[in-house]
Amino acid sequence: MAYETLLVETRGRVGLVTLNRPQALNALNRQLLDELKGVLAGFAADAGIGAVVITGSEKAFAAGADIKEMQPYGFADAVVEDLAAGWDDVAAFRKPMIAAVSGFALGGGCELAMMCDFIIASETAKFGQPEITLGIIPGMGGTQRLTRALGKAKTMDLVLTGRMMDAAEAERSGLVARVVAPEKLLDEALAAAEKIAGFSLPSTMMAKEAVNRAYETVLSEGMRAERRLFHALFATEDQKEGMAAFVEKRKPAFKHR
Ligand code: HXC
Repeated sequence: MAYETLLVETRGRVGLVTLNRPQALNALNRQLLDELKGVLAGFAADAGIGAVVITGSEKAFAAGADIKEMQPYGFADAVVEDLAAGWDDVAAFRKPMIAAVSGFALGGGCELAMMCDFIIASETAKFGQPEITLGIIPGMGGTQRLTRALGKAKTMDLVLTGRMMDAAEAERSGLVARVVAPEKLLDEALAAAEKIAGFSLPSTMMAKEAVNRAYETVLSEGMRAERRLFHALFATEDQKEGMAAFVEKRKPAFKHR
């Protein structure tokens, strides 16, 4: 299927989505959101996909929500349309999803990267929440996910000043998992995704679900959720296979991948 705002391909068991609105530095408009939701629904239903990579161009992962589209909105429009709420579906994608970020990841672009399970950044990446310069605040989770990732001090600094931080600062702060040379970005992200996609899918999905509980709940609830998911995995054939393979000193052949 052809998309106007995305390039979509599969590489082995990895789904690769490239944001593709170069004329607007991949600004996230309604069409892009609709297309992305459709692609992710397809990947969710496709047993052949074990992980997803979302990337942009060398210059911009995404420079935010589309300001020109939002400009005419009033309060009532924002409420009735529940502006930004559609992105919850992207954040709720259940298979592992990596953001490969080069260049600008600003506003909604930074927020989309944070909806992914982890971020691999090029040395050229720049992260920020510049909404304050437009007279608004982040609306796709920036004030919440950044605070959980970076803590209050740096989040307040970024959200209140609107300044950008480079890849080194983002890695130091815990926003980014790895920083690589620009020419290695996509290969690094695809290799990580391919590795993840080679494991048992129920276990990678449950691992993601368990880590996400740490974001959404208190420690005791998170521990309980982890324990239940951990126990549940002993009901899978892949647990038998994974442990048998270790004992027999061979590679596991996971069935559910
Ligand atoms: C619409 C955008 C855009 C955006 C860039 N463009 N960002 N269009 N929405 N978020 C367009 C520009 O208008 C321009 O189009 C083209 O992309 C190239 O951008 P330039 O500004 O000429 O490039 P450059 O000088 O290199 O500056 C890059 C930049 C700057 C620093 C990233 O574009 C910028 O500040 N962009 C806005 C960043 C921002 O404020 N993001 C937060 C958005 S609010 P033309 O047609 O002029 O060539 C947000 C809220 C999320 O994200 C939650 C709500 C749902």
